[in-house]
This record gives sequence, C-alpha cells and structure tokens, in this order.
Amino acid sequence: MAGQRGLGAPPVETRVLPGTSPASIAVAAAALRAGELVAFPTETVYGLGADAVDARAVARVFAAKERPRFDPLIVHVADVDEVARYAIEEDAADPRVATLAARFWPGPLTLVLRKRDTVPGIVTAGLPTVALRIPAHPVALALIRAAEVPIAAPSANRFGRVSPTRAEHVVRQLAGRVRIVLDGGPCRVGVESTVLLLADGDAVLLRPGGLPVESIEEAIGPVRRHANVDAGAAALSPGRQASHYAPGAPLAIVDPWPGLGLAAAAGERVGLLAADAAGRAAAEAAGGPFAAVEVLSARGDPTEAAASLFDALHRLDAAGLDRIVAQPVAEDGLGRAIMDRLRRAARP
Ligand code: TXA
Ligand code: MG
Repeated sequence: MAGQRGLGAPPVETRVLPGTSPASIAVAAAALRAGELVAFPTETVYGLGADAVDARAVARVFAAKERPRFDPLIVHVADVDEVARYAIEEDAADPRVATLAARFWPGPLTLVLRKRDTVPGIVTAGLPTVALRIPAHPVALALIRAAEVPIAAPSANRFGRVSPTRAEHVVRQLAGRVRIVLDGGPCRVGVESTVLLLADGDAVLLRPGGLPVESIEEAIGPVRRHANVDAGAAALSPGRQASHYAPGAPLAIVDPWPGLGLAAAAGERVGLLAADAAGRAAAEAAGGPFAAVEVLSARGDPTEAAASLFDALHRLDAAGLDRIVAQPVAEDGLGRAIMDRLRRAARP
C-alpha cells in the first residue's frame, strides 16, 4: 500500500491482521522484536507500539506520528511485577501502587513513577519519570506476552488528530507508516487512560480519562487536580499543552445548550455533536439545519458517550463540514474526560 513518507522514512507495506488469531499475534510479536511498529487495540484506544527498550524502534514511533520528541510515551506491560523493572524500588513499593493495581489493572489507568535506567530516555522524553499501564484487552496482553518486551505506545493517530477507536481509523492516518495493524474491533472504553502521578506521597491527576478520578479517590484518598487541568499538568505532562483531537472542521462547544451559533447560514454545512437525544432535539428546534448529526448516547449514559466520542468525531471529520457545534456534558466521572477531549478538539 502506498503511504506518505514519515519524516524521510521509506513507506512500509501496512498489513491488517485479525487480532484474535494466534498466528497474527506471533507475526506481530516478531515484528516488534525486530524493531518495527505494530498498532494494536486496547480497551481505551488503539496504540502505536514499539519495543520500549529499543531506542531506535521508539524513535520510529515519533517519526510515524510526527509527534514532537518532548512528549513522553506510556510503557505497556502485562504483569504488575514488571513495575519494579522500570520504576525505582521506592516507587514500585509504594503501597498505593499495589492498591491501585489490584483494583484497576488491567484497565484504563496509567501510573507515573520515577524511572530506572532500564527505560531509554527517548521513551520518557528525558523526564526522570515513566508512565506505566497494564491494558485490559486480550489482544494487547497477548502481544506483550508473545513479544516478551514492554511496549511503548502512544495513541495510533497522527499528532494532534483524533485518537483511533477502530482499526480503520489507524489505517486512515498511518498506512505506509506502520508494519502491522492488529484488528480487535471497536474499543470498549473509547477515551484514553487516566494518567496519575504518584510522587512523595502526593497523587496528581495529569489527564482525566477512562477511569473516573472519583474511583481512584475511593481507593487511595484525595487526588490533587487543577480547576484547569492543563495549567497545572502541562509542566508535569508535556503532551498536555498542545492542541489535540482536532477534526478537520473547527469545533465549538455551545454553552449553555441550546445557544448561540446553532443556526446554519445559507449553504453552510454545520455538524451537530449532541450529548443525548434531548440535546439533539433542543438543537434542531433552536438552530440547524445540520448537514451531519452525531448523538453520543441517546439516553445520556456516560459510559456509552465516552465509547462513541472519537468514533463520532471521525465521522464528522469525514463529512466535509464547515464547522461543528458540540453540546457540553456534566463534568464528573467519565464526563471529565469527555469535556477535556472536547475542549482540546475546540482549540485552534
Ligand atoms: O489509553 C491510553 O493511555 C492510550 C493507550 C494506547 O494506552 N495511550 C495514550 O498515549 O493515550 P498518548 O501518548 O497519546 O498519551 C500519553 C499521555 C501524554 O499526555 C503524555 O504526556 C503523558 O501520558 N505521559 C507519558 N509519560 C509521562 C511522564 N513520564 N510524565 C508525565 N506524563 C507522561
Ligand atoms: Mg494521544
């Protein structure tokens, strides 16, 4: 398959293989061990994986995504014992790690701990910490185990674009830049993992995600967050400062809903991203007409809404729109992650 060149790297032929087949896992594991890139499903989003202890392979991830080198990657492991191989003893032995791992791993939680020398500097963008997670997806776990290496993987999208929740999203953005795409169907959670920094007895939310921060607090007590997560977290989590999740057309969050900006001008193609059926009806009564409509969850279920968010953005992206209007959701539980991603998609 012809692909665009990623920063001078020659295009590779991209093969899409069924994630459930043991033969595919074996082929993908061999590719990883040979320093090649493999995209794979997790319960959150698809990841673009490389052998985390092979600095040259990890460099290919940055090139394929056109991701700046200051933005560190998450290291995916299959077993909680692996934490002690990549994080310093003191942090790996932090009782909160055992508590969180027992409750939420495998799952959509990433822990940032002080790193050992076993992790190449390119993985952590030179930071003294490493982000670790055990994904809750049988294909991801089978791949890590078969490869017998930890897998460094960002979301498998081009930098700044909408994250992939289906194999075809990966192919659209990265064909020619990744050797193998393991197809595991649509991602169950649909937003990326919650990123939590544990340091000096403190716990800091660096990115709201698929595990509600309220659940973390039930397990380990208060988690520090910022009114604007970006302001505080940007310095600690470099990837948080850039605009992200951007669909092709400009997106605006309309608050209160329904409000200004919902009416389409003559000939203008406006896309509607409604949170629920009532929000759609209110928008259609107050504005429109809409050239494309997506409803995150007709009955307003946050889990369903999170799972459909990126899929909806990908479809709106493909609809050739002039602009997109989005309905805000309540900012608690998974709603925190949904609003975070919408705000980033809205950023110019
Ligand atoms: O659900 C997920 O987390 C997905 C799947 C593939 O696991 N991965 C993902 O990776 O979303 P990525 O690279 O798109 O986002 C990783 C986030 C970035 O905001 C990055 O800055 C932060 O984690 N991060 C990684 N290592 C870090 C570190 N050492 N300190 C602080 N933040 C870190
Ligand atoms: Mg990402």
